[in-house]
Parts: sequence; C-alpha cells; structure tokens
Amino acid sequence: MKTRLLEILICPACLPAEIPLAVTLRRQDKDEILEGDLRCDKCGGQYPIRDGLAFLDIPSAAPRQQGIGYESPRALASYLWSHYGDMLNDPEASDAYSQWAALIAPTDGPVLDIGSAVGRFAFEIQDKCDFVIGIDKSESFIRAARELLTRRRKVISLPEEGKLQREVTLQLPEAWHADNMEFIVGDAHALPFRSGIFACLASLNLVDKLPRPLQHLIELDRVARRNDAQALVSDPFSWSLEAAEEHHWLGGKTSHPFAGRGLDNITALLRGDQQALRAAWQIERQGHVWWKIRTHANHFELIRSCYIKACR
Ligand SMILES: C[S@@+](CC[C@H](N)C(=O)[O-])C[C@H]1O[C@@H](n2cnc3c(N)ncnc32)[C@H](O)[C@@H]1O
Repeated sequence: MKTRLLEILICPACLPAEIPLAVTLRRQDKDEILEGDLRCDKCGGQYPIRDGLAFLDIPSAAPRQQGIGYESPRALASYLWSHYGDMLNDPEASDAYSQWAALIAPTDGPVLDIGSAVGRFAFEIQDKCDFVIGIDKSESFIRAARELLTRRRKVISLPEEGKLQREVTLQLPEAWHADNMEFIVGDAHALPFRSGIFACLASLNLVDKLPRPLQHLIELDRVARRNDAQALVSDPFSWSLEAAEEHHWLGGKTSHPFAGRGLDNITALLRGDQQALRAAWQIERQGHVWWKIRTHANHFELIRSCYIKACR
C-alpha cells in the first residue's frame, strides 16, 4: 500500500467518529508498505497490510469468504474479461469502462472507485486525476488489480466450455502509469477515509449488490468534497432478496420507502430531496452504458447500466 494513503485513512469500525490509524511498519520499499499493521487506538481494531495488500474492512470474527461468490475463480475470470476483454482482442468485448471514464472531467484531486473489482475504471481515470484508489470487499479482485498494478501483466484462465479453459496473457499498455494508483480491500458501507477528501467518486454496478445501498450512498457523499466534486453512480437496478432485504432497496417496488424506479429515487437523493446527504448535488447528466460479463465462450450477460453523473 502506498504510504500517501496513511494521511487519509481512518478506522471504519469507529465511524461516524473519524479516528486516525497508527502504523507499525515491518517492510517497506520506497513509498510502498509491503508488511505492516494499522491500528485504531480507540477500539483496538487491527488492519493488516500483507504483501502490499491492505485490509481496511471492519475486522470480523467470521473467517473471510473464500472460493465462493465474488471470491470464486469463475467470478475472477468473468470480471477480468469484462474489464480487459478489449485488450485481449476479443471482438465481443465492451468499451463500457472508457464510456464511464469519458463522463468524468479532469480534476486536480483524488478519485475513489467504490466496488472497483479488478480495476479497469481506475486505470481508465488515472491520467485525469491526482491519485485514484479502488476499494472492494473481494480480496481476490483486489489481489488481481494489484497484480496488474505491480507486474503490469496477468495470466488469465478463461472458461471455454465445461471444464475446458484457455490461458491468455493480459499486458497493460505502456501509456498507463501506475504510480498514482492503489487498490485496497474495504467495505462500501464503512469507507476507511476521512470526510470531504475525494474530488470524484464512482459507484458502478454496486448499489443493487449491497445489503444497505442507502448507507453506501451516505458514505460516498461523506468522503466527497463539499464543493468541486463529481459523482458517477451507474447501476442496472437488479434488486434482489439475495443482496438486500426489500425495505433496503432504493427502488423496484410499490411500497415505501423508495417506491418506484431506482434511477429516479437515487437522482432525488443526490439532489437532496430527502436531506439524507450532507450537501446536495446537481444532476449533470443521465444515460446508460451497455456492459457485458462473460461466463464462458458461448454465454454472456448484456447489462444496461443506467447512470447519473452529478457534481457540486
Ligand atoms: C457487480 S460487481 C461491479 C464491479 C465494478 N464496479 C464493475 O462495474 O465492473 C459488484 C462489486 O462490488 C463488490 N462488493 C460487493 N459488496 C461490497 C461491499 N460491501 N463493499 C465493497 N465492495 C463490494 C464486489 O466484490 C464486486 O466487485
């Protein structure tokens, strides 16, 4: 983890109190912490950094999920293809991430991609900003994003059919710099950052996957600058009981709260209609991006992700 994150990190378990973390360094290479521990002196929470990978989600008694859901090798292959399929010269690949990145105006401040998965949006945006951080709950996704960051290449096993797989090598373009980027493990409901520091926030295809989507938007708003900030929220609004109890959905139902369409409700939330956020946003644009996920050689999901681009 890059040392410059130290000044903006706080204990996610102590929110809404913003308690800075004390660091114990064990191994460092220039501005990169390879082994160490971050510790909250208020609650005693420990946040390890192992092999450069920082775990900033709230420590839990339950073991980390392994091998299932977003931690499964299949999900990793799907998302690596979804993010970098164009660089594998796959004619089926989409250009969704460059379309989302094109919606963001260049900024002098830091950018946060919440639910960054394997990092394509962060790579797309890094030459438009001072620094970009991708944060995601999946250790496997963040490990893959960091591998791309540090080694600039990754061998991917793409499922072809049944047990058949095809190995491909992804190589990042020379023009992509990686010195102003970082990926960390963390939770969209309790972001481990001080308030008011990010100049731009992205939440792509995340809202409908969270148990408490409103809490995520409150957190997105908290860490955004009060002025001179941009936000991009994009989602297919595939509300499901698998992800969240119905009363937490921000749309897709007839009963209150948040009856009606997700796009309308989140637009109203950002505009400040419910006064759930610290400061109102102006809606700049709405639209959609076609986004694709690959399961195997003959199976793809085509998803209309509807976006709201806002600023304040
Ligand atoms: C549908 S994927 C979208 C990923 C990426 N934003 C994109 O558009 O390709 C949802 C992502 O949210 C992450 N995620 C799920 N729950 C999360 C949480 N509580 N905090 C942070 N990330 C989470 C998953 O690991 C996954 O990377």
